[in-house]
Amino acid sequence: MSASVLELPDYRELAPEVAARFDKISERPVILEVRNLNKVFESAEGPRQALKELSFEVRRREFVTVIGPSGCGKSTLIRMLAGLDEQSSGQILLDGREVSGPGPDRGMVFQGYTLFPWLTVKKNVMFGLEIGGHSEAVAESEALQWIEMVGLGSFANAYPNQLSGGMKQRVAIARALANKPRILIMDEPFGALDAQTRCQMQSHLIQIWRQVDVTILFITHDLEEACYLSDRIMVLGSNPGHLMEFIRNPVPRPRSDEQCLSPVFLSVKKKAGGVDPPGPILEPGATAEDSHDPGGG
Ligand SMILES: Nc1ncnc2c1ncn2[C@@H]1O[C@H](COP(=O)(O)OP(=O)(O)OP(=O)(O)O)[C@@H](O)[C@H]1O
Ligand SMILES: [Mg+2]
Repeated sequence: MSASVLELPDYRELAPEVAARFDKISERPVILEVRNLNKVFESAEGPRQALKELSFEVRRREFVTVIGPSGCGKSTLIRMLAGLDEQSSGQILLDGREVSGPGPDRGMVFQGYTLFPWLTVKKNVMFGLEIGGHSEAVAESEALQWIEMVGLGSFANAYPNQLSGGMKQRVAIARALANKPRILIMDEPFGALDAQTRCQMQSHLIQIWRQVDVTILFITHDLEEACYLSDRIMVLGSNPGHLMEFIRNPVPRPRSDEQCLSPVFLSVKKKAGGVDPPGPILEPGATAEDSHDPGGG
């Protein structure tokens, strides 16, 4: 393929429907704001900076993927957003309020299967609802709706060991969404699945996201997954982890498998893979020198 075919369009010259989508997103309120986030781990060999001066914004109902080499701090970022770990400095604001500790406003889905093996699918999804103060009857009826939504209506009474990996992750998504989080944070949720199941889960997640008022921050190693799923792609660099680029994904929606071969898809993939020097579809202002993302989508 010639280099010219892979050239990225300027974000101001996106297809009209894509440009309109970004205009719409930019009118929505900011849900997540990360300001000058730093994380230093203390170890026997001395302090080690895992994340440096990370700043970005995510808007309501946006789908943002985070990509970067192993060890660049993706999971560290997720753990701090989840309130499972504390930053060394900087701020994390959700709906303008500082995050401190875990909370039901953030739904988490991890790569490892985290269902309670001794509970049925239904009871797994009901668990958080009952902890949150819902009566058993309300929790059951809501859980069943979410189980239906992820396509597992006939497995409500099954136990996790009776489910495939993809089905377990569907339950994990239902469980996370049942608590009506403001943001769904997913750390390589499909990383352990075979290629075919992974593709099915990606399109399934998009279907769910279209139906539910939820913002998604999705970590992945897989460039194609990032291009297929997201509105914007946050590219992190390592040593220490830092924001390299924020790419507006110009691939039109709805997306299909065939689009994986389109020039615009390949150009985004190439860009997110770090082959190109920073180019015109960068968010205005989002550079290695100035990582703040003023546009927010
Ligand atoms: N608890 C910890 N104590 C010390 N160092 C840590 C700790 N957790 C993470 N690190 C270090 O911080 C850096 C970032 O790790 P992190 O797990 O966030 O990377 P990652 O981008 O998620 O990698 P991967 O793609 O392999 O999942 C790594 O150098 C890691 O060794
Ligand atoms: Mg990780």
